Amino acid sequence: MIDDREGYFQQFNAPIFEATCKEHIDTVMNHSTPYYGPLLYWLVRSAGIRFAVEIGVCKGWTSYFIAAGIKDNLNRAGLDKTVESTSHNGHYYGVDISGIVVELEEKLRAKGLPATMVQKDSYHMTKEDFPLASMFHLAFIDGWHSRQHLLKEFEILYPMMAKGGTGYIVVHDVYGWVAEPMQEVLKDPRYKFEYVRFFDNYGLAILRVMDDYIEDPKHYWPQGPEPDCINEDGTYRTEEDMQAELAQRKKEAGLE
Ligand SMILES: C[S@@+](CC[C@H](N)C(=O)[O-])C[C@H]1O[C@@H](n2cnc3c(N)ncnc32)[C@H](O)[C@@H]1O
Repeated sequence: MIDDREGYFQQFNAPIFEATCKEHIDTVMNHSTPYYGPLLYWLVRSAGIRFAVEIGVCKGWTSYFIAAGIKDNLNRAGLDKTVESTSHNGHYYGVDISGIVVELEEKLRAKGLPATMVQKDSYHMTKEDFPLASMFHLAFIDGWHSRQHLLKEFEILYPMMAKGGTGYIVVHDVYGWVAEPMQEVLKDPRYKFEYVRFFDNYGLAILRVMDDYIEDPKHYWPQGPEPDCINEDGTYRTEEDMQAELAQRKKEAGLE
């Protein structure tokens, strides 16, 4: 649990953020905790992420949020009935060169989270380091912030990412240490992304892997957008008129 001895939450009232910190494995309010931990949790939840890897875990501030999101996704889908089924259906891997990972893995597992830590230089990681994951829906890169490491991490991780717009690579410090190498990554013809970058806390990028993505706006709403409701002369169409248009379109889309 985050120790609030310094009265952070009294000073900066934020009940939703406070609630997310109550169960945390660490006690210290890290400078990056208010920023991207909760964002990663909700990215994991929103995108239904089940297999994730984090490069550079430090004291597990973001590890906890990612692993907890995976566990909660599995719970929602009824896939976390046993320790074995939980790990099989979703898993968090953390990679760090530091020996702290042993203790971190214990702390995450004590919370019932499906997590494994790999103590390794990320430059040398391979697919075999992640036996439970046939691919990753999320990779969070936040390790050694050199050009050489960043480019290598993309080379290793990109082929392991889920395709079709369901895989996300998140990178920290994109307006800090890795600003220049990130430009190289974004221009590299081997990679296909759509992405967004945030300025705060040295910058964070969320890149969505777009290989094999099929643009199909009718996937979720086959009859198309809601009917226009204003006539050319500025008057409103009647409800019956709009319903008739919608019924016709549903018929044409084979929905009725
Ligand atoms: C900025 S911290 C990670 C913070 C964490 N992602 C968070 O937001 O809570 C960077 C971490 O990268 C690790 N690291 C440094 N060089 C590394 C390397 N070559 N391979 C793997 N991890 C490395 C460090 O040990 C450190 O724990």
